[in-house]
Amino acid sequence: LATIEIKLSDIPEGRNVTFKWRGKPLFVNHRTAEEVEMARRVDISTLRDPQRDEDRVERPEWLIVIGVCTHLGCIPIHGSGDFGGFYCPCHGSHYDTSGRTRKGPAPTNLEVPSYQFVGEDLLIVG
Ligand code: FES
Repeated sequence: LATIEIKLSDIPEGRNVTFKWRGKPLFVNHRTAEEVEMARRVDISTLRDPQRDEDRVERPEWLIVIGVCTHLGCIPIHGSGDFGGFYCPCHGSHYDTSGRTRKGPAPTNLEVPSYQFVGEDLLIVG
């Protein structure tokens, strides 16, 4: 399927749910206020792939990314690593709560697909 529809009320705060989309894992991460705050207080000039959290999400509480490590393609683990976001166990890449690469070999941030929200409860990716 080219697009996938996801009902947001099925995903509690603090959870990261993995869907399959175009043959890849898609992460839909319902961030807590603390996770948003962690993503936003970073000085982006210190980042390897500088991007503001505000430019990576449409709604602060929802981080939508492709769950494929930008190093060599393993699937990172949510809620792990030194920056509270994601950790890729294959070669030790750490991503923050915005899915930005912070440590280890990953050259770029986790990719944000195109998506839109429809009303309060529906997300359409693709
Ligand atoms: Fe993730 Fe190498 S594939 S660190």
